Amino acid sequence: MLVTGEPPQPSTPPLTEEALTDEVIARVQATPDARLREVMIALVRHLHAFAKQVRLTEAEWLAGIRFLTETGRMCDDTRQEFVLLSDTLGLSSLIDLINHADASSTATEPTILGPFYVPDSPEREYGASMVEFDDGGEPVVLHGTVRDEEGTPVPGAVLDLWQNAANGSYAVQQPGVQPATNLRGRYRADDAGRYEVRTVRPVPYSIPADGPVGRLVADTGRHPWRAAHIHAKVTAPGFDALTTHVFDRESAYLDSDTVFGVKQSLIKDFVAQADGTLRCEHDFVLRRLDGPPG
Ligand SMILES: [Fe+2]
Repeated sequence: MLVTGEPPQPSTPPLTEEALTDEVIARVQATPDARLREVMIALVRHLHAFAKQVRLTEAEWLAGIRFLTETGRMCDDTRQEFVLLSDTLGLSSLIDLINHADASSTATEPTILGPFYVPDSPEREYGASMVEFDDGGEPVVLHGTVRDEEGTPVPGAVLDLWQNAANGSYAVQQPGVQPATNLRGRYRADDAGRYEVRTVRPVPYSIPADGPVGRLVADTGRHPWRAAHIHAKVTAPGFDALTTHVFDRESAYLDSDTVFGVKQSLIKDFVAQADGTLRCEHDFVLRRLDGPPG
C-alpha cells in the first residue's frame, strides 16, 4: 500500500556498545589489503573489549592519550621509548616467541633487540677489544663458534655485538662521556667459524626511568632492572638472522628481568682465569633458511 506524506525515516538502531563495535568493524571491512583488514578488525575488537572490560573512564582515556603522546615525545635518534614500552609490557618477547619459537630447532634461542642497538658499528679484527673507554670493567674474553644445527661451522658469519659499560650505560646513552663506538663492534667468524672478542663484563642496568615508561614501571610496583648481558646479532648468507643475548650466570635479576628477555639456554659462565680475566664460551647456532640439509 502506497503511503503518502513524510518519507519514512531510515531506521537507526540504538547505539549500544555492541552495535558501535560492529559498526566500526563494518567500516573497515572494505580495506583492500587483506592482511591490513584482518589486523584492523582484530585491533578494533580487542581495543573495544579492553575498554569495556575495565569500564574505562574519560579521565583514564585522556591519561592514556597523554601517556602515549609523552612516549612519542621522548623518542629521538637515540631514545626509543615505544620500544621500551613494548619491552616492558612483554610484547617484544611475545612477538619474538610468535615468530621464532621452534621447539624442534637446536638453533640458539633468540631474544629481544632492545632499545640501544645502533647500526654500523665498527668492524673489528678477530680477538680485538671493543673497549674504548676504561671505567674499571672486569676484562672478559668472549669466544666460541658460529655453526649450523648439524655442527658445521659457518665461516664469515658476522657478529654484531653491543653491551653496557661498568657504569651501567650504553655508549649511545652517554654522548660526551663514552666514545660513540665504545663496547660495540662487528666481528667476523674465521675459516673454522670461530670468533673471539675482548670486552668487559656487562653489568645489570636500570631501563631509562626518567620517562613515561619508567614511571609506569614504578607505578605498577616493578623494579626497572635488566640482568647483565651482551647483545648479539649474528648473520650469514643462507641463514635466519639471529638476534640474541649472552647472560652472565652470576648476574642479579636473571629471574625477574624487567623486559622478560632471559632464556635459560642463554645464561653462560664467565670463568675466572689465572691472569685475572674472565672467559665466556658461547656458540651461536644458526638455522638454515631452507631447513637442515638432507
Ligand atoms: Fe641491553
